Amino acid sequence: MSDGTEIPLVVTEVPGPRSCEWVDRLAVRECPAITARRSRRASALGAAADDPIVWESAVGANVWDVDGNRFVDLTAGFGVASAGHRNPAVMAAGVAQMNRLPHVMGDAFPDPTRVLLLERLAALTGLDRAILGSSGSDAVEAALKTGMMLSGRSTVLSFSAGYHGLSYGALAVTGYNVDAFRGPFESQLGPHVRRAEFGGQIPDLSDVGTVIVEPVQGRGGIRVPPAGWLGALADATRAAGAALVFDEVYTGFGRTGDWFAFQDEAVRPDVLVLGKGMAGGFPISVAIGTAEAMDAWGASEGQSIHTQTFLGNPVGCAMALACIEQLETVVPDVRPKGEWLRSELIARGHSVRGRGLMIGIEIPNTLAVSRALLRAGFIVLPAGEQAEVLGVTPPLTITQTQLESFLVALDGVLA
Ligand SMILES: Cc1ncc(COP(=O)(O)O)c(C=O)c1O
Repeated sequence: MSDGTEIPLVVTEVPGPRSCEWVDRLAVRECPAITARRSRRASALGAAADDPIVWESAVGANVWDVDGNRFVDLTAGFGVASAGHRNPAVMAAGVAQMNRLPHVMGDAFPDPTRVLLLERLAALTGLDRAILGSSGSDAVEAALKTGMMLSGRSTVLSFSAGYHGLSYGALAVTGYNVDAFRGPFESQLGPHVRRAEFGGQIPDLSDVGTVIVEPVQGRGGIRVPPAGWLGALADATRAAGAALVFDEVYTGFGRTGDWFAFQDEAVRPDVLVLGKGMAGGFPISVAIGTAEAMDAWGASEGQSIHTQTFLGNPVGCAMALACIEQLETVVPDVRPKGEWLRSELIARGHSVRGRGLMIGIEIPNTLAVSRALLRAGFIVLPAGEQAEVLGVTPPLTITQTQLESFLVALDGVLA
């Protein structure tokens, strides 16, 4: 059986006939706003008119589609498969937990896996107490509420091109692709949010209660702020008595070479938001904060004022614990691996941005390039408001051979 370290093998046209069949059926039953579909048969756009491939299985850095094509996934499935797709130890922990207790009662009755995970997260982050969620946006909501509780002030400062998710609270602070994401809903988004330039001058924060920022922007284009900017923002936030929230849904759990991107500078948030790579594919997230921030909520008086049906799902907690253990051996290699890839790209004349295995390659026509790469067997997505970079955020376990094969394919596509 494959261990997920193979280079691509494309045996049909991409997308293949089976993928097309599934996508046709999906289009009948799914809201058309969800899966991008380019109606390839009806379209006059030719090569630019591809439907998606339909995934069948995955392991390590490899994904297979329903047509039997093998791909190398340079997205880690939106940054989730940091420890590799279908990591065996993470899957075993999930299966064992499913056979023991797949569900528990959120804020009413806990189970030991939740306690173990919260203790592990505290040790890893240096923060104290947490609220678990099911998605990144969920944890962003919990962090924003914590900021309100801690500061007592409703104004939130967020940043241009920052992406925090699309649920209403998270969307209100999202600064990425605002015309499309916010447009139809603008009248239902609160007037409590101000936006500043990411990496730019820090505005007056005297009326601000919460500052939310990605230490390195992901969807916004793999943007690293100038050295010292995050520290200056943290100082200004503290001086204003506001709560500082670092959204590390994308950068967390080793993506940038540190366990958390904020560790690159001597700064500490009041609340840290994590998700994506936390549990090897199980939808679980967390907002973890200082004791002061979390205790600002006060104690539950029987009916928790922030909870959800699946809070602290034991399968997610067990998988997260196993995933963190797996990442312990992987994270130390991320920086050298990323440095190697970066130097190879620079040697080929590309401008690159990012840190660790979160790299943006600045090339023109990233949409067309990513489609051509898909046909060559590489799953890779553009990032940035103008799709100005090709985002490379592979499983952290990706091999040098797989990365070399990507470099060769990229050369071929750009030739
Ligand atoms: C930095 C950041 N925050 C929040 C989110 C939202 O997470 P989710 O899509 O799991 O709700 C994302 C998703 O891409 C993200 O990159």
